Amino acid sequence: MLNNTYSEEIKLVAKPGEIPFAKGLEGVPVGESTKSFVDGLGGKLVYHGHPIEELCEKSTYEEVFYLLLNDQLPKESELRDLTRLMRSYREIPGDIYDLISKQAPRYGVHPMSVLRTAVSALASYDETTEEDSPSEQRRQGIRIVSKIATITAAIARARQGKPILSPRPDLTHAGNFYYMLTGNTPDNFYARLMDVLLILHADHECNASTFSMVVVRSTLSDLYSCVVAGIGALKGPLHGGANEEVMRMLQAIGSLDNVEKFLDDAMSQRLRISGFGHRVYKTMDPRAAILREHAREVTRRAGTEHWLETAERIEKIMAEKYGQRGIWPNVDFFSGVVMASMGIEPPMFTPMFAVGRSAGWVSHIIEQGNDNRIFRPRFIYVGPEDESYQPIRDRK
Ligand code: ACO
Repeated sequence: MLNNTYSEEIKLVAKPGEIPFAKGLEGVPVGESTKSFVDGLGGKLVYHGHPIEELCEKSTYEEVFYLLLNDQLPKESELRDLTRLMRSYREIPGDIYDLISKQAPRYGVHPMSVLRTAVSALASYDETTEEDSPSEQRRQGIRIVSKIATITAAIARARQGKPILSPRPDLTHAGNFYYMLTGNTPDNFYARLMDVLLILHADHECNASTFSMVVVRSTLSDLYSCVVAGIGALKGPLHGGANEEVMRMLQAIGSLDNVEKFLDDAMSQRLRISGFGHRVYKTMDPRAAILREHAREVTRRAGTEHWLETAERIEKIMAEKYGQRGIWPNVDFFSGVVMASMGIEPPMFTPMFAVGRSAGWVSHIIEQGNDNRIFRPRFIYVGPEDESYQPIRDRK
């Protein structure tokens, strides 16, 4: 178990200089987990000991979900049971389809906001929401992972004014998700690509959205509330929202000739290049490397090679000029090129991320219950002391 290293005196004061402070909790461990490990210097990511490269090559999303939930790869019968359960939970209540149909097409509404509202509404249709036992939580988690794909696909279709498609029980989680999004039954290539996309996003240790959730869970709040918090955190452009920004950047750059000037201008103005940099990776994010390779075939099929060419030019110039500062591509850099080439519109990129990440989210929330203690850090108080109270008429 971890040692609690702060002394009692330090815990009880919180003024500048009296308490150790790491802005953004950089490098501060907040608990133990068996789910995933990020080696930021070596550029490695493992889910419960299994390298992400191997899982992308050999596993399905259902298998990876089982691994994260149970800390072991499933036997055939175990995978069959989980798959059956996930398929049986795919449908969502009619009221939630109605909510999506009304909210998603509204001008200025981000699909992540609709996703957050729809997942929150789901809690009212699950009569076990307030039940806290590990077995009920597992069932709730499997329901959420199944239904979040249906919700996301419905949002994508409603935004475009297309008819919403019901889930198909004959397809895998990834294959059905692709079908509900595009209306096409995926061939092996697209079914596999969707599996890879979801597996790569399934977990990433103590990232901002997962941390938000474990904070909510530490109060013993319910699983749906935790996932809603995670969706809210993922939406931000410094976290999952970066994939959408990358696509905007590729569109703004336009042609290969503009890349270097665009980057120089942005870096000299100290702007952030979306899809680059990471709190933990100080080298290439392994997920970005996998996605770049998958981008080759999907851009060829879609005739969108120019996006990959522009992205690779950005990668090359950034590596030459800024690589030594530890600013390398993260998962969001190539995922936009892949998703856009699959026919997914940029505002849907972050909800797609949430569909994959839901497996890690629910696994961490359930794990949190094993050794819970409420999160209650301190703000360092830098405000005034002993202010005199002025009657309202005397205030300037
Ligand atoms: N573009 C330009 N400069 C960058 C970038 C970037 N993308 N990322 C970091 N830097 C620079 C900072 O300007 C800073 O420079 P300075 O020391 O001269 O001031 C230095 O690198 C360190 O940056 P921090 O902000 O301290 O790094 P931090 O660990 O806090 O931030 C973050 C990590 C938020 C991901 C950051 O790299 C960033 O804003 N990236 C762009 C957004 C993005 O792609 N987010 C997705 C991350 S992956 C994910 O969440 C799924």
